[in-house]
Amino acid sequence: MSSTHPAILLRQEQRLLEHRSYSPAVIKSLVDAGYAVSVEKSSQDPARIRIFKDEEYSAAGAQLVPEQSWETAAPGTIILGLKELPEDQDFPLRNDHITFAHCYKNQGGWQRVLGRFPRGGSILYDLEFLVDDHGRRVSAFGYHAGFTGAALAVKAWAWRLANPGQPLLPGVGEYTDGREFYLDERELVEQVKQDVAAGEKITGRTPTAMVMGALGRCGRGAVDLFKKVGLADGDITKWDLDETRDRHGPYEEIVQHDIFLNAIYLSDPVPPFVNVEMLAKPGRKLSVVCDVSCDTTNPHNPIPIYSVNTTFKKPSVLVDIPNDQNDFPMSVISIDHLPSMLPREASESFSEGLKESLLLLKDRDSAPVWTKAKKLFDEKIALLPVGLRTKEV
Ligand SMILES: NC(=O)c1ccc[n+]([C@@H]2O[C@H](COP(=O)([O-])OP(=O)(O)OC[C@H]3O[C@@H](n4cnc5c(N)ncnc54)[C@H](O)[C@@H]3O)[C@@H](O)[C@H]2O)c1
Repeated sequence: MSSTHPAILLRQEQRLLEHRSYSPAVIKSLVDAGYAVSVEKSSQDPARIRIFKDEEYSAAGAQLVPEQSWETAAPGTIILGLKELPEDQDFPLRNDHITFAHCYKNQGGWQRVLGRFPRGGSILYDLEFLVDDHGRRVSAFGYHAGFTGAALAVKAWAWRLANPGQPLLPGVGEYTDGREFYLDERELVEQVKQDVAAGEKITGRTPTAMVMGALGRCGRGAVDLFKKVGLADGDITKWDLDETRDRHGPYEEIVQHDIFLNAIYLSDPVPPFVNVEMLAKPGRKLSVVCDVSCDTTNPHNPIPIYSVNTTFKKPSVLVDIPNDQNDFPMSVISIDHLPSMLPREASESFSEGLKESLLLLKDRDSAPVWTKAKKLFDEKIALLPVGLRTKEV
């Protein structure tokens, strides 16, 4: 093994309901390329258990180590993870980390989160900002956010029809034997197909759906789910910038579908796509909105008909529609961690997207994907007060 290959340690995620990780297939590629990879054993807590078994990582050639070994990893070991480190920790970080840290956009507490790296003399390579030569994100979870959001939307449509008087979809654990996630795509798609069939039995038709941002990662995932569970292509309306550029919302077309799924990336303020006044008008078909974008607290949220994020336990909330002239309720799904509902496929596709970059870790001082991430890190730490970015000895 070349001495330039850094050791890599895959940490067990600490956040509740996080079952995603890097796939054993990608760990095997790293091992085959000469990296020494250790993998923390999975938590046995059902709320945090990893979707991949420990044995899959040993078979890939990784060495299994106890949970939280990353905290005392040898100097120079790169720590691989997905979600944030535990919020109650504050010790300086001595190893470089690859992770989503959510501290580059003025998020609450960003200084404390980011300061741990310079205080320990280490580097944060933030997964959200790893970009290729064209400035496009190397890998993201969007596809499976759209896919699972669309699945929940269909379930909510069918549930309301089959359960008059109980308009809110029960928690994910209620239809997955207590798990708040699906074992794989097949399990999810099979179940949602049955929901479509149950709704069709009542209404005589399959639902219609409209996807806003249909050309993006989330949007494409949503369209694929709708097709896989049996919606006809003609019953899926796909809108993106071309359809909204010259015509301001709110859009009547939205309420003429059973399901509306928003998956735009909100960069500039846009007028609302839909509002409660439009929902109140007679003739609405719409009964479910899934807001995958979840710009819930953004003052320019283009779906200003709800104000809370929902969860896998309570996936939807009712929309308060004053003077509603329709005789059925409307609900919104606004879960901001949707890909965790399908941890296996979400992990596999995210890891695959990142593979080529991970294989370049031995050249991270020259490979653009890593040098650009390091440059951004340097710019961000320069914004910290001196006391929070001074290396502690
Ligand atoms: N809820 C979750 O769990 C979850 C997970 C991942 C991503 N997201 C969010 O989903 C959103 C979309 O992410 P993505 O990765 O798919 O982004 P993306 O950039 O791949 O796609 C966004 C799409 O929206 C389109 N768009 C932007 N403004 C529009 C407008 N005014 N009208 C019509 N179309 C418009 C773009 O052209 C693009 O095709 C982001 O806000 C992201 O943070 C949510």
